[in-house]
This record gives sequence, C-alpha cells and structure tokens, in this order.
Amino acid sequence: MSLQIEGLCWGHSQPGGSWRQLFKDFKLECPPAQFLVLIGSNGSGKSTLLNLIAGSLTLQAGSLRLNSRPLQHLKDYRRARWIGRVMQNPLDGTAPGLTIAENLRLAESRRRSPFRWQGLLGIRPNKLDVLRFQELLESLEVPLADRINTPVGQLSGGQRQTISLVMATLAEPELLLLDEHTAALDPKAEARVMQLTERLVRQLRTTTLMVTHSLEQALNHGDRLLMLHEGSVRGDWSGAEKADLSHTNLRELYGSAKVS
Ligand SMILES: Nc1ncnc2c1ncn2[C@@H]1O[C@H](COP(=O)(O)OP(=O)(O)OP(=O)(O)O)[C@@H](O)[C@H]1O
Ligand SMILES: [Mg+2]
Repeated sequence: MSLQIEGLCWGHSQPGGSWRQLFKDFKLECPPAQFLVLIGSNGSGKSTLLNLIAGSLTLQAGSLRLNSRPLQHLKDYRRARWIGRVMQNPLDGTAPGLTIAENLRLAESRRRSPFRWQGLLGIRPNKLDVLRFQELLESLEVPLADRINTPVGQLSGGQRQTISLVMATLAEPELLLLDEHTAALDPKAEARVMQLTERLVRQLRTTTLMVTHSLEQALNHGDRLLMLHEGSVRGDWSGAEKADLSHTNLRELYGSAKVS
C-alpha cells in the first residue's frame, strides 16, 4: 500500500526553552510494496518520523495517508490495525510471561479486534492454534517450533526479535516500521533476522520503512535508500543509483553531515 506524507511539520522545545523545528514541510511518497531503508546521523529524526507515522507522536501540520486513507487524526492503537512495528529493544515487542504461542495469538487477536482489549482469556491458544503457529514458524524456517510453549522471557534477544517480527507481520499490515530492529543483536542473529525480514517483506509485499545504522544493511537491503539530516532528506537513491553506491560514498555523506 502506498504511503504519502505531505507538508509534515514537527518540532520540540529544547533545554533552555528554545524551539527546534525538526521537520519543516517534509514530504515522502512510497509506492506499494517499496522496501525503503532510512539512514542518518543520531538525532536526524529517523525514529521521530516513524513515531509520527505510527501515531506515538502527533504531527503539528501536514497529512499522512496510507493507501489514500488519512491517518493523522487517528490514535496510535487505531493505526496499529494497518501498521506493524518492531523496535530496537528485543524486550519491547513481546510479553515475556507469555509463551511464543500466546504471544502469536495475542498479535492475531489484535488484528481481529483492534479496538478492544480482549483480556488474557481471549488470547489463550487452543491446540489447533498451537499447531498452526508451529507450522507457520516451520514454513518461515524459524527454528522455534519445538519451543512454542516456552515463555518468551526465556528466549535470547535474537529469538525474541524474531518472534516480534513474526508478530508484527502476522496481521499482514499495510505498512511495516522497523526501527534499528537488529541493533542489539550479535552478527549471526542479525543475519538471521535480516533474512527473515527480507522474506516477510517480499512475501507479503508490505510497504516497509527500516531504520538502520548498518551501512552493510543500507547497501544490501531494500529497493530505496533515504538519508535524513536534521529532518531533511540529504539523499534519496533507488534502482541503479542505489546499486552504484558504496561504503565510501555513504561515509562521505555522513561526513558532510558533520557526524563524528
Ligand atoms: N518526544 C520528544 N520530545 C522532545 N524532543 C524529542 C522527542 N522525540 C525526539 N525528540 C528530539 O528529536 C530529535 C530527533 O530524535 P530521533 O530520536 O528521531 O533521532 P534518530 O534519528 O532516531 O537518532 P538515533 O540514530 O540516535 O536513534 C532529537 O534531538 C530528539 O531529542
Ligand atoms: Mg532512533
């Protein structure tokens, strides 16, 4: 589904009371099924942009549309029906005291009833649900089917992030927001989670915005690369232009963005 952002404005007050206008008349358009990778120095506005899209922050002006549907007046929990999200911290996306099956059932029940909290009873998976979830994990080559009844709090960060990603995509969202979702993982777990990310994004054809500080990921994943600097687009590459980019090009651009 397409994402259209027009005239977006957002700023914040700083220590001392002065105002900093981070986004001024910001514009971004992503066609359906685009996998966009977002890079940029610390504080450039990447997470803020994702928070504004998800509704955790409110835009001060402008419009946000997902497949032509205006989103900006909807609360975050209403937008969650169409938007899946995975954050940087593996502790954020899952409920530690619940098993893998219960977490997946919870993600599924949110899809069915996005406006009401159903209570724990409503998410208790039955035997068929458990089998279904095991099959899903096997089909995605996630080696956790035999741990389906293990509380998620007992899993490693990489395993938890894998489950968060499956949960975020279980409801087949129209838009997937990934905010440094592999940053806390070791290289092996990072590679596994990125492999699963590619698979899910391509299989579901979900429009995706992925924030990363990994130049490797920026060069090797996604069909478009966007560099933010102080709330503005410093670079926007797709297709052949993106394929021609190198580590050196990107480092130079970070350099000109005065990043140490
Ligand atoms: N809720 C908020 N209230 C006030 N200021 C905020 C808020 N959220 C973000 N900011 C400020 O907005 C700026 C952009 O922050 P943001 O978290 O979007 O950066 P980022 O590009 O994600 O950086 P990083 O790479 O470090 O994650 C920062 O200066 C931050 O302090
Ligand atoms: Mg951030």
